[in-house]
Amino acid sequence: MTCTVLKPLQQQETSDETKTDRFDKLVETLKDILGPSSGITSDDVDVGDLMDAMEQYTSDDREWCPYAMADDSRGYTRNLVDEGNGKSNLLILVWSPGKGSPIHDHGNAHCVMKILRGTLTETRYDFPDGDRNKPMEIKSISHHKENAVAYMADELGVHRVSNEGSDFACTRPPNVAKSGCHIFDLRSGKKSYVPKCGYYSRYGHLVKE
Ligand code: NI
Repeated sequence: MTCTVLKPLQQQETSDETKTDRFDKLVETLKDILGPSSGITSDDVDVGDLMDAMEQYTSDDREWCPYAMADDSRGYTRNLVDEGNGKSNLLILVWSPGKGSPIHDHGNAHCVMKILRGTLTETRYDFPDGDRNKPMEIKSISHHKENAVAYMADELGVHRVSNEGSDFACTRPPNVAKSGCHIFDLRSGKKSYVPKCGYYSRYGHLVKE
């Protein structure tokens, strides 16, 4: 298993018992909150509970390294950590320096994202007025620092996430990806449908979908 993302870091020795326990525990906690049948859009899931659980976890690279596969030929990689009940998923995204995502919506799903390493820039836009061809206007720009937890949903508009730093950055969003999403052209506001976002790795194994 490779973990390119950690190359620039000095890794400390750690005993096997403590290596993954806290991260695994977070995965279990998030699964419990999501419950057996609900997706993250369900009314019975409290997004605040998810955010609390993520805030309580202090990032330790050694714990999530096996999932975080970097590839600087891409804007970012999507690495599946847990599929839970099949309606929501837990991913680690590894953001290449100087690159980012397209502007996208969230297919009616909530998105909670913890910054595991580095700082990520989030640029928000209003949903474009479908009929008019005009450049999208920036609504806000925020910088999310390591260990911060950010929330996004269609009610708040659309956004682009990027890594303006010089090193790989990692985030961990539980998200609903099954139904796809839309991406938006900055110049015209024109949207196009992305039916499925594939995974770069699943459960620590490279798949490059
Ligand atoms: Ni997003």
